Amino acid sequence: MADSSAHFEAAMKRLFDVKDNVAVVTGAASGLGFAMAEIMAECGAHVVLTDVQKAALESAGEQLRNRGLSVRTMELDVANREQVQDVFQAIEQACGRVDAVFANAGIGTGGNLWSREGKLESFSDDVWKKVMSINLDGVFWTMQAAARIMRPRRRGSIIVTASTAGLRSEPIVGYAYAAAKAAVVNLVRQAALDLAPFGVRVNGIAPGPFRTNIGGPGPRPPQVVEAFTRTVPLGRWGEPHEMHGLALFLASPASSFVTGGVYVIDGGAMALSQCYSHELTEERWSR
Ligand SMILES: NC(=O)c1ccc[n+]([C@@H]2O[C@H](COP(=O)([O-])OP(=O)(O)OC[C@H]3O[C@@H](n4cnc5c(N)ncnc54)[C@H](O)[C@@H]3O)[C@@H](O)[C@H]2O)c1
Repeated sequence: MADSSAHFEAAMKRLFDVKDNVAVVTGAASGLGFAMAEIMAECGAHVVLTDVQKAALESAGEQLRNRGLSVRTMELDVANREQVQDVFQAIEQACGRVDAVFANAGIGTGGNLWSREGKLESFSDDVWKKVMSINLDGVFWTMQAAARIMRPRRRGSIIVTASTAGLRSEPIVGYAYAAAKAAVVNLVRQAALDLAPFGVRVNGIAPGPFRTNIGGPGPRPPQVVEAFTRTVPLGRWGEPHEMHGLALFLASPASSFVTGGVYVIDGGAMALSQCYSHELTEERWSR
């Protein structure tokens, strides 16, 4: 009988070989970004973790470095256009190449439809601008910086973290979040067309509820946990490490014919057509 483990190893190498690739992750100090950085580093890539939170970033980098993984950290606020350009230029100079960019940084600030401040008439301009500057402008500038490096080299994979809230209406998120996430879904498609002739692939990931620090660290109010959990057929929130497979797939040769897509990872939430109660009252939300 043939040695099946040799075939397995050869197949895994053919599909998922990212060894010595250079990957950059924004918002890598926590949650899904950390998981993306972790799996790429575990598979032999050199990973640049970037984040706006310096202390959390250093501790995330140290955690991976202590495991012998090849990582470096660079402070980066994706809402600062010049900083995004400078950091990516510095990475290209230092590493000589960039193969995968995860435009992942995002915030979940802003009242939802069940709160008074989340209603259309009262949604704050400041919150709108803040969320847009990180979740939309920041993603756009990250994609631009990636394209500047990848287009002339005719290789690369850009992976954008969108949300199921960008693919359908979700009263549980705020206006700005919903609008920004819908916008990045189309940014992915537009950039995929633009960069396809140069062999650069662009895809999105649309997570459902994952247990991360979004919305703030520490335990969430029980009504938030319950409201989200009820929307997930698998009956629970995702854990960040459950992002490993999809993140690696989109960055690796396994997805060589995949571009312009947005891939849902949500425990089945998008398969439910009626997921939230229609009783959108503040009383119900703050019960
Ligand atoms: N967790 C979920 O349920 C969920 C669902 C759908 C989409 N998402 C998306 O996943 C992405 C990652 O979020 P997460 O859930 O891991 O949250 P998280 O809060 O655990 O991690 C987000 C990281 O982004 C960083 N960040 C925030 N603003 C930044 C800025 N201006 N520049 C650089 N970094 C910045 C934070 O410091 C943090 O480390 C976000 O785009 C979020 O919208 C999350």
